[in-house]
Amino acid sequence: MNKMNQHFDFIDGQLCAENLPLSKIAAEVGTPAYIYSAAAMKSQYDSLAGALKQAMPDRDAPLLCYAAKANSNIAILAYLKSLGCGLEIVSEGELVRALEAGIDPKTIVSTGVGKQKSEIAAQLKAGIHQINVESIPELELINQIASELNLKADIVFRWNPNVKGGGHEKITTGRTRDKFGIGEDRIEEAYGLAEQMENITPRGLSMHIGSQVFTVESFKQAFETLPALVQKLRANGHTVERLDIGGGFPIVYKDEKLLDLNAYAQWVADIIAPLDTQIILEPGRYLVGNAGVLLSEVLFVKKTDERDFLVVDAGMNDLIRPAMYEAHHEIEAVQSTNRPWQTYDVVGPVCETGDTFTRGRELPELEQGELIAFKSAGAYGFAMASNYNTRPLPAEVLVNNNTYSIIRQRQSYQDILDQENIPDWIRK
Ligand SMILES: Cc1ncc(COP(=O)(O)O)c(C=O)c1O
Repeated sequence: MNKMNQHFDFIDGQLCAENLPLSKIAAEVGTPAYIYSAAAMKSQYDSLAGALKQAMPDRDAPLLCYAAKANSNIAILAYLKSLGCGLEIVSEGELVRALEAGIDPKTIVSTGVGKQKSEIAAQLKAGIHQINVESIPELELINQIASELNLKADIVFRWNPNVKGGGHEKITTGRTRDKFGIGEDRIEEAYGLAEQMENITPRGLSMHIGSQVFTVESFKQAFETLPALVQKLRANGHTVERLDIGGGFPIVYKDEKLLDLNAYAQWVADIIAPLDTQIILEPGRYLVGNAGVLLSEVLFVKKTDERDFLVVDAGMNDLIRPAMYEAHHEIEAVQSTNRPWQTYDVVGPVCETGDTFTRGRELPELEQGELIAFKSAGAYGFAMASNYNTRPLPAEVLVNNNTYSIIRQRQSYQDILDQENIPDWIRK
């Protein structure tokens, strides 16, 4: 069986999350709803941690800092922490979530090209492991804030290796033309400046070349830029004791070739480990992507002379990846019966033609009121959801064998309205 389907499979004709029929959850929680499998996350974590351990049996295990942006529900953060993960955060909001989930600040790394003053201050006060610095002006700001707080900031520089990675132009981050990191032209200068700053301790380098990197050789290419750089920095008297090599591991959405984890781990062992630093990774999508589905109900089957539309109750506000990245999600009818195949455009209710999950997809013939599941929706699904068209954010559910917990209530209209206010001068 395809690994992506391992924890979302049919039992007695019913699509299940682990051992729980999705129809049962839908009846109790409603739709649209994100359903996650704890076992699926554990299995991904074990594969990655296991491959690294096998390639480097004699070393301390690398610190796996789960990229919270992929799915930042505090239950997911707490669960991944229980498996052994630290966290990679990109905002103060994610720091707040991390602390709420009980993540040890000493296992948190912070990235982001536009960190704000208040965010930097919060991270320094929390005592996180390191701030991954993306520019010299950011370095200067961190030094200033650390000085005001009378603290010393542990930082690494995000190295831009000028390597293309990433499954889509919008999630490619490691080329000179991308906004991320510091390139060849300024990395030495940045290190030199940092070393003279009273409130900064430069500890090493970080790197992240993109997301859904299925050109796996890109990882090797990026890693291979590090030994010469590290040696050069060390030769010039700089300390390099941490290397954070980012995330980007791909998952299967359709028929992509899976990353050979053992090859990846061996590259880490052969290229990074000899540099004798702490090794940090930032996997996001890999840990949670295949561990979630978006459950939705068919509202209407709308037939036209040209095509048949399956109008479902999930929209682009719930799952924006198809509209934003032309991303593919497998779609499954929750009730498996023997029925003819039919070609559908699967669309949501949002008032944009862009609210189209797929065109011309072959699916079993479906009827109004039936349930479907968008597979591989655990990463960058709920995390990118919005209230567009004043549609409430969907519920999130975590399944553990044959039980489930609602880890986020469906948003109510009152929740949405509570954020807004009509000024008195308009009311009058
Ligand atoms: C700096 C950084 N690290 C890690 C990640 C996680 O990437 P992925 O989910 O592809 O593993 C991202 C994603 O954008 C990122 O920007």
